[in-house]
Amino acid sequence: MADHPVISAIKRALKDVQVPDGSALADYAGLSDIILTPSAIAFAIAVEPGMEGAFGPVQVAATKAAETCAEGRKVLVSITADRAPGNSGANSSGAGTGAGAGQKSPNQATPVKGIKKIIAIASGKGGVGKSTSTVNIALGLKNLGLKVGVLDADLYGPSIPKLLGIEGKPAFRDDKLFKPFEAYGLKAMSIGPMLEGDQAVVWRGPMASSALRQLLRETDWGDLDVLVMDLPPGTGDIQISLCQTVEFSGVVIVSTPQDLALIDAKKAMDMFTRLNIPVLGMVENMSYFIAPDTGKRYDIFGHGGAQDTAKKMELDFLGEVPLHMSIRQQSDAGVPICVDQPESDEAKSFGRIADKIAKNLDLI
Ligand SMILES: Nc1ncnc2c1ncn2[C@@H]1O[C@H](COP(=O)(O)OP(=O)(O)OP(=O)(O)O)[C@@H](O)[C@H]1O
Ligand SMILES: [Mg+2]
Repeated sequence: MADHPVISAIKRALKDVQVPDGSALADYAGLSDIILTPSAIAFAIAVEPGMEGAFGPVQVAATKAAETCAEGRKVLVSITADRAPGNSGANSSGAGTGAGAGQKSPNQATPVKGIKKIIAIASGKGGVGKSTSTVNIALGLKNLGLKVGVLDADLYGPSIPKLLGIEGKPAFRDDKLFKPFEAYGLKAMSIGPMLEGDQAVVWRGPMASSALRQLLRETDWGDLDVLVMDLPPGTGDIQISLCQTVEFSGVVIVSTPQDLALIDAKKAMDMFTRLNIPVLGMVENMSYFIAPDTGKRYDIFGHGGAQDTAKKMELDFLGEVPLHMSIRQQSDAGVPICVDQPESDEAKSFGRIADKIAKNLDLI
């Protein structure tokens, strides 16, 4: 299939960009596919570990060259050193080595201008309510008078736009910084609008982590007390790479009370500890069921599992959130429970969790 005209134009423009050995970037084996979406253009340049500095000017020149053909799209050019040049599409293994050795790249994990604290919401397993917790904890923090942002880093299933009722593609300013969305007093950005159909697959791996880091750094967050980042589920390369390059003040682990979910939660905690990211504590979501008709409580999932696990691991237990139809309904409607029914018990559960997190981070 012929390339889209914009991609062809970028390929031509990259012929004039030189890599350190003097050859053209367009012919360089480590140049990834060029991804084109309605709002963004992204590609990665894979380099040998240690060569990142030498490729800095290449990244700048490639960005400029692509911008001339971008027709108003945001350009994200990433340098990845996690895999050998030419090994296109392979998933990184290098990042994992660092985690095993308990290393964090201190020179890379630099603070983001204007943001006081960045926390991650993580889980070992999918579908436990991480995104729901991210949004409602962020709102709880905002209700404490803090300036709060949300970054959806879940490439596998970006759901923050839906949860916050956000539509459309992000705008960016003349200086190419993204303008974050605003919803319910939160600033929000998501990788979602950058992904289209099967492109999500191409974005996985080192390129995805790198695009995420750029999304974090190239958004005009203004001054934030705290940015809450919704991580993809699990303990894979993306999580490891983000932890090595973003200065997290801590991570909140969300789990359901079931045994299997807890095993995965323990794995996640282990990973963050090895990466020197403080685990702020654990949230037990879908902790117990409240019948919508009678309001009666049922402990259908063996309530308290996460609390026991937290205790055994000497971790703070941040709180429990009931399984309640209204939480799901409000999520589906794009109006979070903490906005729609702030006085409900469910919203108050999130509020208490946010309060503990804020105290733990010395934000209040
Ligand atoms: N406490 C709750 N009560 C009722 N429904 C809930 C609750 N928490 C989450 N849900 C619902 O469960 C589903 C999964 O929640 P959510 O998307 O937040 O999980 P996740 O961990 O982010 O999932 P993924 O791993 O796919 O990103 C959603 O439909 C959500 O509305
Ligand atoms: Mg999610």
